[in-house]
Amino acid sequence: MFESVTKKLRDARKIVFVTGAGISHESGIPTFRGKDGLWRNYDAMKLATVNAFYDNPKLVWEWYNERRKNILYAEPNLGHKAISELEKYVKVIVLTQNIDGLHQRAGSTEVLELHGSIVKIKCTVCDFKSEILTEFTQIPPLCKCGNVLRPDVVWFGESLPQEIWQQAVTHASKCDVMIVVGTSLAVSPANTLPIYAKQNNATLIEINPEETIMSSDMNLSIRSPSVVALPKFVSIFK
Ligand SMILES: NC(=O)c1ccc[n+]([C@@H]2O[C@H](COP(=O)([O-])OP(=O)(O)OC[C@H]3O[C@@H](n4cnc5c(N)ncnc54)[C@H](O)[C@@H]3O)[C@@H](O)[C@H]2O)c1
Ligand SMILES: [Zn+2]
Repeated sequence: MFESVTKKLRDARKIVFVTGAGISHESGIPTFRGKDGLWRNYDAMKLATVNAFYDNPKLVWEWYNERRKNILYAEPNLGHKAISELEKYVKVIVLTQNIDGLHQRAGSTEVLELHGSIVKIKCTVCDFKSEILTEFTQIPPLCKCGNVLRPDVVWFGESLPQEIWQQAVTHASKCDVMIVVGTSLAVSPANTLPIYAKQNNATLIEINPEETIMSSDMNLSIRSPSVVALPKFVSIFK
């Protein structure tokens, strides 16, 4: 099994990664649903929805501010770096549910952020949108126009940025190999991307210490942390 997958990898013209919170675990960023996952300690519906934000922008901002601090000081790990190094050998596209920007900081050049970015901030009313790397002194932060600013992330109940989603579906539908890393595949529609790849007969590989709802559809499931598994993929091409 492993030999045939190795051959598929070497022959691939395009490898698409679908990544989730697990890949950033070793960078010190908590996942949502795993052991120690963020949702164990907080009620997501009170914090990551549009309604929650308009009900209590201060509370939601306090939570995002803590996550922003953690993410701004975090460093990409060997898993993020291995994905960027693969670009030396093959076309690589990263479709990420993460909002931490660590793939880009590791050097990946083709990253589609399906759920936005915690580093980017936008106004709830005017067109203002910018990357802001400093901490806010006032919570909730206000725009120059006087209205409340918000993180440029996709909250539960909001739709994904449509252009990015369409591009993601196209990449997923046309890849030879899809590698699904560190995601529970519990969030729709991102969790449909492996289905598009399978419809194109792509080889599906999963890297996750735990089983997921799509494990039985995988050609290969690697049950180890991504910092361990991903560098080994690079050595296949050397
Ligand atoms: N880093 C981030 O930007 C971040 C952090 C938390 C949540 N999220 C959000 O989580 C939502 C989607 O959920 P998800 O599937 O990404 O996260 P999730 O918490 O639902 O699942 C995380 C998955 O990672 C696996 N995992 C844990 N440690 C791992 C490791 N070391 N190596 C590989 N896999 C590991 C777990 O078994 C689990 O299946 C998205 O909306 C995303 O925006 C993002
Ligand atoms: Zn504004």
